[in-house]
Amino acid sequence: MAALFPRPCEGPSSDEEVDLFGDYRQLFPIHVLGRLFWVPEDNTVLRALQFLELREGAVRLPYKDYCWNDTKGCCEMRYRPTPEAEVVPARACQTRVAPGLEVVALPKGGRACW
Ligand code: FES
Repeated sequence: MAALFPRPCEGPSSDEEVDLFGDYRQLFPIHVLGRLFWVPEDNTVLRALQFLELREGAVRLPYKDYCWNDTKGCCEMRYRPTPEAEVVPARACQTRVAPGLEVVALPKGGRACW
């Protein structure tokens, strides 16, 4: 897999996006179930998945079922932190997106829409 680097962007497209994703200025390349997407820097994987749902309709997750604060373990996923790393379990609400990160199993209730 080729090295993937952040790319600049124009940032959030609405006040709602600022509230959800912050005032991001770069997009990070990540893979979700084998497909490449670009998501806002400085966000958790759970927020990045929400971004992909709102912007691209690429995934569906039951966001209201998640605690969003690391108390229930309700967002456990499996992911590879870098392309060379082993797959490990982690909580999507506590894992920061990084270039090259790969989600190999979505949090419970999540599904791809492609
Ligand atoms: S959303 Fe509940 S532990 Fe992450």
